[in-house]
Amino acid sequence: MIITTCGNSVKIAKVLAKKLHATYSPLILSSFPDGDFYLKFNVDVKGKKTVLVQSFQPHPNASLFNTIMAAETARDLGAKKIIVVAPYLAFMRQDKRFNPGEAINSKIMGKHLSVCIDNIITIDPHLHRYKSLRDVFQVSGKALTANPLIAEYIKKKIKHPVIIGPDWESYQWAEEVAGRIGAEASCLEKTRFSSRKVKVKIIKAVPLQGRNCVLIDDIISTGNTMAAAAKKAKSLGAKTITAIGIHGLFVDGVQKLYKSGITKIVTTNCIEHPTNEIDVTPLLFEELKKEKKN
Ligand code: R5P
Repeated sequence: MIITTCGNSVKIAKVLAKKLHATYSPLILSSFPDGDFYLKFNVDVKGKKTVLVQSFQPHPNASLFNTIMAAETARDLGAKKIIVVAPYLAFMRQDKRFNPGEAINSKIMGKHLSVCIDNIITIDPHLHRYKSLRDVFQVSGKALTANPLIAEYIKKKIKHPVIIGPDWESYQWAEEVAGRIGAEASCLEKTRFSSRKVKVKIIKAVPLQGRNCVLIDDIISTGNTMAAAAKKAKSLGAKTITAIGIHGLFVDGVQKLYKSGITKIVTTNCIEHPTNEIDVTPLLFEELKKEKKN
């Protein structure tokens, strides 16, 4: 088995290769003088299972393009099976045409990747309107979840927590994590006016006065959802507010989150960031171990 990456997720790729006793060989990615793309494998992939470990953040568009080019090249070089491991899979939030004329990014991404890969493994993809990865990809896909790891983290670090989903889409994560540790769960309802303007109201009331609140969302992008939820929890008397994001994009930085009353921000290492405290590598290792055996 060969483990490679297009530049993101290097740490995870190296750890996986070591644990799987596989060859780690990063790709050479650069450009010709005119800006054209250049890619080179540094190891012979002929007859080998080739795993492309690549979170689609930072640089989601380039990540998709690079992954397609790498997968097509691996196929052309005779790889036996091409597996994409995308701890964070971008494009999934655009899962319908919200306004006339818009592209449905997730469908296009799924269609183009399906042509050149055999399998995709990801963690907590944004499955909201889609039921499963089968609605997006025409090849086999595995959606792993970081929920057990998040539950373990909360159990170890936070006393008598109340778990809050900042909107209905995230409540699936909040509810499951709460169930695993026997905590109460609450949910907010979000109205989104634009990419950076949201408003939340509480719809599943649980007393928050003096409580340790844990906000859980799959994605922290601009951070406005978490910030609005934190302000609401604070106004209801929360003692501490921990914001847990599976995929921490932090496109506007973390300042606004702390200003909103969040005491601590925690993320998984699906996307590398200083807030990473939950390691998802064991989930990916178990899945790739099965792939290696087959
Ligand atoms: C929404 O559908 C997701 O679950 C997140 O709530 C959303 O992506 C967060 O975005 P932002 O951080 O920009 O408010």
